[in-house]
Amino acid sequence: MIELEIRPMRANERIEAAGVAARAMRDNPIHVVVFGPDPARRVAALDRIFRALFRVAPAAPLIALRAGFIVGVCGAAPPGTCRLAVPAWPRVLIAMARNGLGPFRRTLHWLEAWSQRDPAESHWHVGPVAVDGGLQGLGIGSRMLAALETTLDADGEPAWLETDKPENTVFYQRAGFTISAEAEILGTRCWFLTRHPRQERGRVGNVNFSPTGKS
Ligand SMILES: CC(C)(COP(=O)(O)OP(=O)(O)OC[C@H]1O[C@@H](n2cnc3c(N)ncnc32)[C@H](O)[C@@H]1OP(=O)(O)O)[C@@H](O)C(=O)NCCC(=O)NCCS
Repeated sequence: MIELEIRPMRANERIEAAGVAARAMRDNPIHVVVFGPDPARRVAALDRIFRALFRVAPAAPLIALRAGFIVGVCGAAPPGTCRLAVPAWPRVLIAMARNGLGPFRRTLHWLEAWSQRDPAESHWHVGPVAVDGGLQGLGIGSRMLAALETTLDADGEPAWLETDKPENTVFYQRAGFTISAEAEILGTRCWFLTRHPRQERGRVGNVNFSPTGKS
């Protein structure tokens, strides 16, 4: 098993963490549609957004380090915080706008379409989850999710996330998520998954969120 340290990101690790997430998520279908066919431009666009997001995020993402280098990132906004606070918006909007008018418009459309499906119930909002390209499939993502699960179960609140890749639904289902809804956004199939904390799963079964409310 790969030796890893998993812990919350520190402020001085923000740029390295953003780079890992941007490179790992370069080829996700929704990013190709939103940011265009040039892989280098997609990495640059995602890097800008993650740098801004990790600066204003209500909770530091978990990171996985191997030999001192960040190899994975797992973000999660605690209940009540997945809609960014108003003071945080300018930084994120500027980062999005620097990607050009077309990508900016498509980013807003995509994020609005995702957030329209946020559950009304109090929930943790998971993402981004990403592992360095050369190290995917080695269990790093699962180990970050397991660390996050400990927090989710201790907190006793449900979790919610979106993904645009069918193989990721399998990855999340192993961590106790179930598919709650599907939608076509900008011509890209997206899945919405929910996870109930372990003690609640035992008590009420695997009840899905309503996918239409707002958080
Ligand atoms: C999705 C991701 C975080 C999973 O982390 P990981 O360390 O690769 O996953 P693990 O090794 O813990 O688990 C492997 C499982 O993840 C799923 N998976 C998804 N993408 C994968 C990839 N690129 N490579 C390998 N497994 C992947 C498969 O179900 C796999 O199960 P299998 O080995 O039985 O096929 C990582 O592959 C990644 O960064 N992918 C690109 C970015 C992305 O899509 N992030 C999620 C956005 S919602």
